[in-house]
Amino acid sequence: MDKLLIFGGRPLKGTVIISGAKNAALPIMAATLLSSGIHHLKRVPRLRDVLTMAELLKRMGANVQIENNKCIIDTTKITHFEASYDLVKTMRASILVLGPLVARFGKAKVSLPGGCAIGARPVNLHIVGLEKMGAKIVLQEGYIIAKANQLKGTKIYFDIPTVTGTENIMMAAVLAKGTTIIENAAKEPEVVDLANYLISMGAKIKGVGTSIIEIEGVSELNPPIFHEIIPDRIEAGTFMAIAAASGGDILIKGCRTENLDAVILKMKDAGVIFKETKEGLRVIGPKRPNSVDIKTMPYPGFPTDMQAQFMAMMSVANGTSVIKETIFENRFMHVAELRRMGADISVEGNTATVRGVKHLKGAPVMATDLRASASLVIAGLIAEGKTIIDRIYHLDRGYEELDKKLISLGAKIERLKK
Ligand code: EPZ
Repeated sequence: MDKLLIFGGRPLKGTVIISGAKNAALPIMAATLLSSGIHHLKRVPRLRDVLTMAELLKRMGANVQIENNKCIIDTTKITHFEASYDLVKTMRASILVLGPLVARFGKAKVSLPGGCAIGARPVNLHIVGLEKMGAKIVLQEGYIIAKANQLKGTKIYFDIPTVTGTENIMMAAVLAKGTTIIENAAKEPEVVDLANYLISMGAKIKGVGTSIIEIEGVSELNPPIFHEIIPDRIEAGTFMAIAAASGGDILIKGCRTENLDAVILKMKDAGVIFKETKEGLRVIGPKRPNSVDIKTMPYPGFPTDMQAQFMAMMSVANGTSVIKETIFENRFMHVAELRRMGADISVEGNTATVRGVKHLKGAPVMATDLRASASLVIAGLIAEGKTIIDRIYHLDRGYEELDKKLISLGAKIERLKK
């Protein structure tokens, strides 16, 4: 298992180019199952999760070519309709093939994702939504077995604005008979990017980016000439946190600031300066961040995927900050590791109280999940001395060449191959 060796204590300066969004690329790759033909995707991030989704599609009969940040997916010969446990256990987002398979082929056998480090993460809302559209679903030996002659449009209300749940039902609805209305739908930019991809294939979708999405089913869809994945707002936010925590000065190219309002406003409260330039967004960190309270919420609220990174920044802030995690029940796995580096953090239920210290101290730590590993990288970059982060395969799932990008910003960082 690879480790990351970081010598901290230097402000990071320079330019970084944001990659395509993991959480847009994954549903869009799954959406290629909805139409027979050759799909050209651009700005696809080179990540472990993208390779896993490619493997999933290949096992179904698709031909998938990935070259640099281009991905060509030929779905003319889909002959298998299964997402097996050995792949699904490594990537929960595999559940995203369920909706497309049932919609286009009338059947699917998809392993239940099981829990993960940050929470139980059930998929009940996905299943109930498909059943409401007429799918017959049984759970057998850890698999979701779904059948449907013809999905029918209907009204579906989500108790929680589930991101992949919204994506799965939207993909099921585009080929259903009649109109589907999703109420309390997720509004994340990645859901919007998927909807735009479906519309470019001929789908009829209204209300994209709002909590009420209306989909009028059509009989077939066709691949567009190409689709460029939106930039990754969480990667961009992560680099903002790196500039903010290290007193750095980073020009972030290719990020869409309108997708990061909540994060930018909280960073400004912490004393970070933002300058929109024609090359990109310049982010200048203060000598020491002010302490700021955050509460994670569904989009457009403060994203849960930025909570761990913001906590690393607050661990050296001037004052005490209160961080409330309302989306996942166990997304504080980074706290124990940050404490090993001298952070002063106490947790009560879904609330962490972070008393800022002047400096963190480097230490051997362990990554537990994707965004926790990003949090430890930030901590290692600002700590005095040496930090070794173990299990960084978590990081490689969701960040494209993060260590290389950090080295180009002046970080003293080395990947220790095991
Ligand atoms: C997506 O996960 C993202 N993953 C996550 O990013 C992100 O943290 C999350 O949305 C929230 O923004 C992808 O898009 C691939 P949810 P998802 O369904 O869809 C509960 C990362 O770091 N829920 O919106 O799985 C669930 O337990 C990853 O890139 C149900 O109870 O999240 C959670 O508490 C981590 N039943 C809440 O809803 C369901 O059927 C939000 O989950 C579905 C969800």
